[in-house]
Amino acid sequence: MARLSVIGAGYLGVTHAVCMAHLGHDVVVIDTNTQRIEQLAAGIVPFHEPELAELLTKTIASGTITFTNDWATIAANADVHFLCVGTPQQSGSHAADMSQVFGAVASLSEHLSGSATVVGKSTVPVGTAATIAAQLKDRCGDDVRLVWNPEFLREGFAVQDTLHPDRIVLGVSDESDANIVKEIYAASLSDGTPLLVTDYATAELVKVAANAFLATKISFINAFADLADATGADITQLADAIGHDTRIGRRFLNAGVGFGGGCLPKDIRALQARATELGLADQFAFLTAVDDINKSRQRTVVERTLEALDGNLEHKTVAILGAAFKPDSDDVRDSPALHVAQTLADNGARVQIHDPEAIRVLRSKESDLVLCDSIEEALTDADVVLHLTEWAVYREIDPAQVGALVRNRVIIDGRNVLDRDRWTNADWSISYLGKPGS
Ligand code: UGA
Repeated sequence: MARLSVIGAGYLGVTHAVCMAHLGHDVVVIDTNTQRIEQLAAGIVPFHEPELAELLTKTIASGTITFTNDWATIAANADVHFLCVGTPQQSGSHAADMSQVFGAVASLSEHLSGSATVVGKSTVPVGTAATIAAQLKDRCGDDVRLVWNPEFLREGFAVQDTLHPDRIVLGVSDESDANIVKEIYAASLSDGTPLLVTDYATAELVKVAANAFLATKISFINAFADLADATGADITQLADAIGHDTRIGRRFLNAGVGFGGGCLPKDIRALQARATELGLADQFAFLTAVDDINKSRQRTVVERTLEALDGNLEHKTVAILGAAFKPDSDDVRDSPALHVAQTLADNGARVQIHDPEAIRVLRSKESDLVLCDSIEEALTDADVVLHLTEWAVYREIDPAQVGALVRNRVIIDGRNVLDRDRWTNADWSISYLGKPGS
């Protein structure tokens, strides 16, 4: 089994480290955030991700995972170093902030001696891997090799996506550099996971192309949701019908309040910024439309809420079901639900918000939203209810029972998943984004 380090204990790094340790590799995790390292060493996963806490406990007990904030420790105890630090959007620009990536490469290269492989997993602008490879060669010589191995995991399915990926992409400057990484992923490869060995630029672009395609698919269907609203068509039936064409596919065609999270929004902006730098602004201008359509979804929900409240938010209570950017996650980065909640609160409404996991995260920040521990608390005295993150638990709500709690039985389903008959049979008025009767 291999000796690995994982640099960066965010979503990607923790999941990757725990899964590699679960496969039997010896893994040491480093992060500059000492508190996070202490938490993890004590078996605490600092975010919600199904299956991860159990696997962390198991791998700590079996001794296959350890945590440190000392670069010398990882250089001495690992032969392969996975770079999993964040590349957030720069403030004041659409480009990616690369300081964590280059900072980590600088710190690591100071401590490397002898041969080692650095494996880049962070999402980066195309051209970064070539720059890092040159830096490593300069500082450490020819025995430190770089492989670019983009990550495709989805929050909420991070463990399964890491253990059973759709594909493995390895960007190399020399094919033999891929061998050590192939050994690390032997379990997935023997299960038949497709492997693509490419150059650096292709590997970097595969990642951003995939996220740009997914974001485009969502904005495409959301533009049609507006057209459906304008014409009386039904966006879910439309998506079902075009989705039967296997060239199109049904997944990522769910219209609603739009995409959010720590990846899709910032990745399309960074891709467009990089393409513009490379003189390809016109070809990538469509990503501005993708981003704008996505932002317009939140405005649509706010407008619908205003309509339901006769244009006046003062002294009105809005109940919001969902704060995370997607179900089975407590991540509120760029969350459409939270943007809508904040806009309504900023304009005078009392916003009572519930989320099965993300409320805990919101409590650690300053907020003028009323953070509710139960669905009932959120719905009490509501003038209108918004359903904005499609947690399974919201589909199980008994509309008749909660009808007694609210002032008005009016619900706007911003995810188009609640059953119309269930709600209307209990005397609720329910509306959707892109479905008739809205
Ligand atoms: C996304 C990609 O799906 C992963 O493949 C990628 O590895 C990851 O980004 C990353 O770059 O690290 P994730 O951010 O976990 O994963 O979330 P998604 O499942 O892609 O959902 C993104 C957003 O789109 C959510 O807000 C979701 O509610 C929304 N969405 C998704 C829709 O509005 N409609 C859909 O049909 C699907």
